[in-house]
Amino acid sequence: MPLQPEPTVGDTSWFVYDRFGMFIHWGLYALAARHEWVKSNERMDDARYQRYFDHFNPDLFDPREWARMAREAGMRYLVITSKHHEGFCLWDSQYTDYKATNTPYGKDLLRPIYEAFRAEGLRVGFYYSLIDWHHPDFPIDIFHPLRDHPQALEMNKSRDIRKYAAYLHAQVRELLTLFELDILWLDFSYPDQEYRGMPGKGHKDWQSEELYRMIRELRPRIILNNRMDLRDVKPDIYTPEQYQPTEWLRVDGKPVVWETCQTFSGSWGYHRDEATWKSPEQLIQMLINTVSCGGNLLMNVGPTARGNFDERAQAALRVYADWMRLHSRAIYGCTQSDFTPPPDVRYTQTGPERARREGNRLYVHVYTWPFRHLRLPGLAGKVEYAQLLNDASEIPIKEPGEKRSWDEEELPPDTILLTLPIKKPNVVVPVIELFLKS
Ligand code: GLC
Repeated sequence: MPLQPEPTVGDTSWFVYDRFGMFIHWGLYALAARHEWVKSNERMDDARYQRYFDHFNPDLFDPREWARMAREAGMRYLVITSKHHEGFCLWDSQYTDYKATNTPYGKDLLRPIYEAFRAEGLRVGFYYSLIDWHHPDFPIDIFHPLRDHPQALEMNKSRDIRKYAAYLHAQVRELLTLFELDILWLDFSYPDQEYRGMPGKGHKDWQSEELYRMIRELRPRIILNNRMDLRDVKPDIYTPEQYQPTEWLRVDGKPVVWETCQTFSGSWGYHRDEATWKSPEQLIQMLINTVSCGGNLLMNVGPTARGNFDERAQAALRVYADWMRLHSRAIYGCTQSDFTPPPDVRYTQTGPERARREGNRLYVHVYTWPFRHLRLPGLAGKVEYAQLLNDASEIPIKEPGEKRSWDEEELPPDTILLTLPIKKPNVVVPVIELFLKS
């Protein structure tokens, strides 16, 4: 039986089935085009940052196109920044003027995105930044753009975190009332990170316990992530960031539902000059590695300030689309396998829901294509049929004890031998589907 984390309050049943989502980071920082932390990195004050607000006009914005590309890539849910650390709101919030509707673009962005992704059949979640570098009551701290201002401590005297917390609660309430969300992704807490006499921020600042009660009241089964610094309540998902776990993520020794968030290149917001774009092999292997350890992958796109996905992002999405068109059943409804793969191979296996419907299947993801033969220990007598997934062509299986010619080596008693085509199938990572005996 595959590992199964203890249930939490939120409904993660669809989430662990769907496995693959699109993250979108979009805001004023897309204009600076040099990281979504640009305001902090370059210590910009509000006056300096205002230029991006004044010139925000994404004339190519077409969320139906975004949603189509996400669906074609095999992504089954969306998490989008309703507000990032800069404080700019993509929706027409009644609690601020710092929002899309007041830019030259003049229209709400979040509603059309929400509707376009729903129309493509994807689930929708919002990222909401607990941090806010625009709100006048948000005390300056270690990450704030004004942290090195000579008057920072002085300025903090007039900033009232309770007023900010009220704003944050009101906005979360507003979002949960205006939209039927599947995920709320709050970001982030740093209670112990003090800087020059300015404390970090955590559950006391966000009033997380009360926030949590409100969230559950409005959307009892929404999936909630782990970044609001709650002490006594278990989050529904854990979210390792730009980091690939190599085994099922555990917290206090127990397996948990987890989702790694990753970028096509090193930045979340659109970054024109960032060059560490991942190769097709890395993109596909990250998805496989994640599911082979029982996790989800949330892959990020940072749209440009014109409102489109740039050609590099589109190419990366096409890599997923091409592979997923043929191999999605090695991902959806799959989880960590009971079996241990040989080197250069990863396994995913049907989880309980699919196994019940379709029988137990094991997917053999072959990272290095061998010459003719692949030995799989531990599977002797367990496999009923094998095929290449990309074209459903039969893959012959030899069980231990069977000998086909005089010069073949003997197999260890627990090992089967697959005979593969010499030529690697023309897909980034070939997969062999094994139908296990029941
Ligand atoms: C962070 C960063 C950020 C990004 C996020 C994604 O904590 O501050 O810019 O939005 O993680 O996980």
